Amino acid sequence: MSATSPMPRVPLAEASFWMPVQASQNAAATDHLFQFIFWLSAFFFALIMGLMILFVLKYRRRDPDQLGEGPSHNTALEVLWSVIPLGLVIAIFGISFVDFMKIVGPNAAPNAYDIGVTGQKWKWTFTYPNGYVDDALHVPVDTPMQLTLSSEDVIHSLYIPAFRIKQDAVPGRFTKMFFRATEPGEYVIFCAEYCGTSHSAMLSKVVVHRPGEYEKWLVEASNFLDKMPPADAGKKLFTQRGCASCHSVDGAAGTGPTLKGVFGSMQPLTTGQKVLADENYIRESILNPQAKVVAGFEPVMPTFQGRLKDREIGAIIEYLKTIKQ
Ligand code: CUA
Repeated sequence: MSATSPMPRVPLAEASFWMPVQASQNAAATDHLFQFIFWLSAFFFALIMGLMILFVLKYRRRDPDQLGEGPSHNTALEVLWSVIPLGLVIAIFGISFVDFMKIVGPNAAPNAYDIGVTGQKWKWTFTYPNGYVDDALHVPVDTPMQLTLSSEDVIHSLYIPAFRIKQDAVPGRFTKMFFRATEPGEYVIFCAEYCGTSHSAMLSKVVVHRPGEYEKWLVEASNFLDKMPPADAGKKLFTQRGCASCHSVDGAAGTGPTLKGVFGSMQPLTTGQKVLADENYIRESILNPQAKVVAGFEPVMPTFQGRLKDREIGAIIEYLKTIKQ
């Protein structure tokens, strides 16, 4: 999609049986804690189940009249089984707290490079410091990064398994997440909060660039409106900004009407009127989607006011003209 030099995928062999590859500075610590809690739980599960089975067999009633005098309590045992779990829980809290503060604490990422993240049904978009918006997250390797997340509609959650980090994107407020990528490559991004019909398709990727390549990528990617014919740029924007999550271009049904053959045609509205889908109607539908809703559809589209520039809307209109048939 974007013009980048080929990215070597990190070999799968580096992923363990349990875990994906460790590609951030905090991944190893997070995995150690997971392993610690997992094996601790496995040990006590085996111990308790084993003793229960042993005692059931060993102390079963052999004679119908046999009624033993059992001990009513044992102070030493009771202290032991209270103090040991308490110590373990405090240890887990302590390790977690130290690791957690390294990820999100006030000194987690001083002078971090900030990228904006917007969750919207059902697409992640990433806004770079120069204003360029992409549907993939691109970051330089070994650089403290800060993501500032928000949502246009419902709660989403940005989850990067290879980095062992996850953060909710909440409408009406900003949340932050920090990381430092340690391995160049491409890793999957999920939405980890159920957000409606296409939640499971709300995927993206993070591309970790080798030193010096991120800056080149950003300059090249930012210029696409100047370099591509408007219709091609419009096609790119159509996918990149999430239009394609709801509007098909092949006539298939979606959350929104298909845009195949729409430009230049008469569209029936929920009010019973009809409207000609010309440049002005398309522009209005992008900036003020609730103004004229097509019959049979819910008024659920978010506004793109302030998110698409006039030039970008123009490019999208040029693209729509190419899918008339
Ligand atoms: Cu967005 Cu699930």
